[in-house]
Amino acid sequence: MAYVWDFYAVARNADLLLAGLGQTLLLSVCGIAVGVALGGLLAAMRLSGRRPLIWTALAFTEFYRNTPPLVHFFWFFYGLPMAFGLTLPPFAAALAALAHDVVLQVEDLHKRFGATEVLRGIDLAVRRGERIAILGSSGSGKSTLLRCLNVLETPTKGRLILDGTMVGAPTAGGATRYREAELNRLRARVGMVFQHFNLFPHMTALGNVMEGPLSVLGRSKAEAQDTALRHLTRVGLADKADAHPARLSGGQQQRVAIARALAMDPEILLFDEPTSSLDPELVGEVLGVINDLSAEGRTMLLVTHELGFAYHFATRVLFLHEGRILEDGPPEQVLKAPREERTRRFLDRFTAFRF
Ligand SMILES: Nc1ncnc2c1ncn2[C@@H]1O[C@H](COP(=O)(O)OP(=O)(O)OP(=O)(O)O)[C@@H](O)[C@H]1O
Ligand SMILES: [Mg+2]
Repeated sequence: MAYVWDFYAVARNADLLLAGLGQTLLLSVCGIAVGVALGGLLAAMRLSGRRPLIWTALAFTEFYRNTPPLVHFFWFFYGLPMAFGLTLPPFAAALAALAHDVVLQVEDLHKRFGATEVLRGIDLAVRRGERIAILGSSGSGKSTLLRCLNVLETPTKGRLILDGTMVGAPTAGGATRYREAELNRLRARVGMVFQHFNLFPHMTALGNVMEGPLSVLGRSKAEAQDTALRHLTRVGLADKADAHPARLSGGQQQRVAIARALAMDPEILLFDEPTSSLDPELVGEVLGVINDLSAEGRTMLLVTHELGFAYHFATRVLFLHEGRILEDGPPEQVLKAPREERTRRFLDRFTAFRF
């Protein structure tokens, strides 16, 4: 298949490139400043004449010189929190966000519906390629969290930073203002698959998948059709391109919804219980498609009650409780050896759950 080069993408995203340039400069300056300070400290330790200090400085230098950066990243993001329960403060996390390939940074996110505070301060750094399973009881705020991430719900408070750029503009009162054009751009980059598919009933499967590229990305009809067919083929539904949703099974409708999300080529895909309204025999085909996406290294957040699937699929599991992230770690730890009593009680309810 011929690849179409789209050089105008550079011009269209000039604001992002400029913002990125600013962030890169900021990071470079911060990185140099931290490096100089640390270097000075290590030099002072080696000149101190005290053996413990000299050895510590030597060990530190040798360790960093001889280990790849990937190991350092794992240490800061997994090692520190796991070994010492230490999560980095916001500034360090923001610096790390740029240095360590964080694609989405969520800071102190709150959402209130009237008197009910549903999200009570969510801090989360999503790294590129991570697959995060979100668990929690009904009403814990899982759907609200996903909906806030692409501003289908407007957060009451807090910040979203996508690829180093803040979403929305802060107002004097501390809230954030979101412009419609920006939200459309955001939703193209953060795609969502819903529990009840939400396909347009009057359009065919092909029409549903073409809609976003046509109306949001401004693609030509031929190009949108080409993309749509490619994605329908990918979810195994090329032969259903002309069928309307009412003629498709739940599993097929959900696969069309996944193709529709993929057609926008999002950086992050959000799934809100994508299989929970399906008959049990249709669950597998949808989970199969989602699983295939992990091979591409796509960043995904998945709210699910399919714990067995979450265990194999996710690189990280969050447990949400009363609007806060109560537990956050690798599937092995959160699902098999949860630290929190609440998580344990939640997992105990899934008696028929096998890994
Ligand atoms: N639009 C809304 N208006 C008022 N309250 C809402 C709204 N959306 C959600 N809520 C409330 O927020 C709380 C969290 O809802 P949410 O849908 O995020 O939970 P959930 O964890 O996804 O639950 P479930 O597992 O049942 O889907 C619930 O108490 C719900 O009633
Ligand atoms: Mg929900």
